[in-house]
Amino acid sequence: MSLKQKLQSATSILGGGAVLFVGINIANGNEKFYRDFVMPVFRWVDPERAHVLAVKAAAWGLVPRSKYKDPPILHCKAMGLEFTNPLGMAAGFDKHAEAMNGLLKTGFGFVEVGSVTPEPQEGNPKPRVFRLTEDKAIINRYGFNSVGHDVVHQRLKERQKKAAHLPQDQRGIIGVNLGKNKTSPSAVQDYVDGVKKLGCFGDYLVINVSSPNTPGLRAMQGRQQLAELIEQVVATRDLLPCTPKPPVLVKIAPDLTQADKEDIAAVVMGKKGSVEGIIVTNTTITRPESLEGKHKGETGGLSGVPLKDMSTATVSDMYRLTNGKMTIVGVGGVSSGQDAYEKIKAGASLVQLYTAFAYEGPPLPSKIKRELEDLLKKDGFSSVSEAVGADHR
Ligand SMILES: Cc1cc2nc3c(=O)[nH]c(=O)nc-3n(C[C@H](O)[C@H](O)[C@H](O)COP(=O)(O)O)c2cc1C
Repeated sequence: MSLKQKLQSATSILGGGAVLFVGINIANGNEKFYRDFVMPVFRWVDPERAHVLAVKAAAWGLVPRSKYKDPPILHCKAMGLEFTNPLGMAAGFDKHAEAMNGLLKTGFGFVEVGSVTPEPQEGNPKPRVFRLTEDKAIINRYGFNSVGHDVVHQRLKERQKKAAHLPQDQRGIIGVNLGKNKTSPSAVQDYVDGVKKLGCFGDYLVINVSSPNTPGLRAMQGRQQLAELIEQVVATRDLLPCTPKPPVLVKIAPDLTQADKEDIAAVVMGKKGSVEGIIVTNTTITRPESLEGKHKGETGGLSGVPLKDMSTATVSDMYRLTNGKMTIVGVGGVSSGQDAYEKIKAGASLVQLYTAFAYEGPPLPSKIKRELEDLLKKDGFSSVSEAVGADHR
């Protein structure tokens, strides 16, 4: 990048930051103001730059604190961890562990950082993120741009030290999503290294074998490869010097055949070193006929509303195939309390989102939690856990 380009880039980031700062302070969590002013301003900016700005805003605390206090009906326990609410920020937003506190402040019960690769890498050439505004969707082919294990390790360590002084309910839960370098000679070794380096600095770990933008990655969801990977990752986790040891989850794609799903269920339920949960799902490589956005032909993973039903159906399949015994985190196209509730009734104990936050901004977590609270009460449930898998009974 030339000096002139760098200056232009810095000016636009600073300019955008100033608009953002003024907007956020005027809006102060007001849903309508975000929808009608702050978010449309964001949409003038190209999607990757808007993403960087949003991460910086959250990192610097320039986001409104949610005024909604999590009620007991939303408290839940999963994989030995206690969540004040079941809604999390999915992986990919805070790839480099910069914005955890800001995101928790907007009302998420947990934040998953990453995917993080062992060595720093740039990812694919730009442009690599596209808005499909008409579809409330995004196509991305970032390709694991990452600052690498060392930098994320340092950030997580600092945060852990500070968070130790906070009461449990304000600490939030941090997940660490592990990826592999594009040219790494051994994928298994990359994940094992991630467990060793970052395992004691997150509350849970994710083996991401489902991003569509790293060649060969999704093949690791195959029975033999997945079994070997899980065995080594879990064995490494069991040797970590910290207590409690972090639960391990596997993140899967929505584009699996019935046989693939049966294989994954058999492996994750297997005796040879088992995981504690599954994250269902990553982005899809399919392109539903209904898509209208002009970027629908771009290569990459599609997320947001068009992914919602595909992902909920996969949650339901995996719940059935694992006899309701495995913690499932449902993710894909969630933008309302109703969407979250559908994932929970299909079998998800926890729910995550990303794309809807890119469109609706910081008021979204509180809105979803309020709606979910009402839906649970309306159906006579006294907790989220009671509703998990209700569709199967
Ligand atoms: C721009 C972008 C980047 C993403 N990066 C990652 C990633 O690094 N690792 C990962 O496991 N998932 C990643 N995801 C997938 C999300 O975590 C999530 O599984 C998917 O977007 C579906 O949820 P949504 O429809 O609410 O966005 C990314 C998604 C988007 C939109």
